[in-house]
Amino acid sequence: MTTDLATVLYGTRILPVLTVPSAASAPPLAEALAAGGARCAEVTFRTPEAERALKAMTAHGGLTVGAGTVLTAEQAERAVAAGARFVVSPGFDAAVIARCRELAVPVVPGVATATELMRALRAGLDTVKLFPAAPLGGTTILKALAAPFPQVRFVPTGGIDPALLPDYLSHPAVLAVGGSWMATTSHLERRAYGEIRRLTAEAVERSTR
Ligand code: 3PG
Repeated sequence: MTTDLATVLYGTRILPVLTVPSAASAPPLAEALAAGGARCAEVTFRTPEAERALKAMTAHGGLTVGAGTVLTAEQAERAVAAGARFVVSPGFDAAVIARCRELAVPVVPGVATATELMRALRAGLDTVKLFPAAPLGGTTILKALAAPFPQVRFVPTGGIDPALLPDYLSHPAVLAVGGSWMATTSHLERRAYGEIRRLTAEAVERSTR
């Protein structure tokens, strides 16, 4: 079954981005995120344990889990084989998009410019990750890019200050906001699952106000 990404991301409008050093931390991590009110999560392909972590997060059952930092078609294949229900990329790569399409899995490419956005539109996509959102100009660039592309939905990610969540989410073009602040590598190394749950709950609360 293909995930309706818009429905999943619109549920809480928060997408925790995870870099999991050890798959052993995946079950308590999934539990902490779900208990905090998250409904989805993105496991980045930045560690050798990413596929195992993705599988374990999926097995929890309470989250729709996707893959992030997918840079190649081969990684997209591995991500889907590990159970990814959606694929996120930091940039626009035609081969990644084509393979996701063949696999019938929603794909969200990263864009930083109007040209990249036009490429995504030409590829038939209408949901993009604005990345890296904060260094690019935050809500200022979001508004500027959204204006000529009213059909596009954005998932701003990258350096997001959680205090600014309401500012991002109040823009009608924003589907959801992604970020790693709710569950960082440091949290995972310290097994700070209570803190992960608290930060997730805080973000969910800010996103639904
Ligand atoms: C990503 O890959 O989406 C980013 O690394 C997440 O951005 P952040 O770590 O700045 O929140």
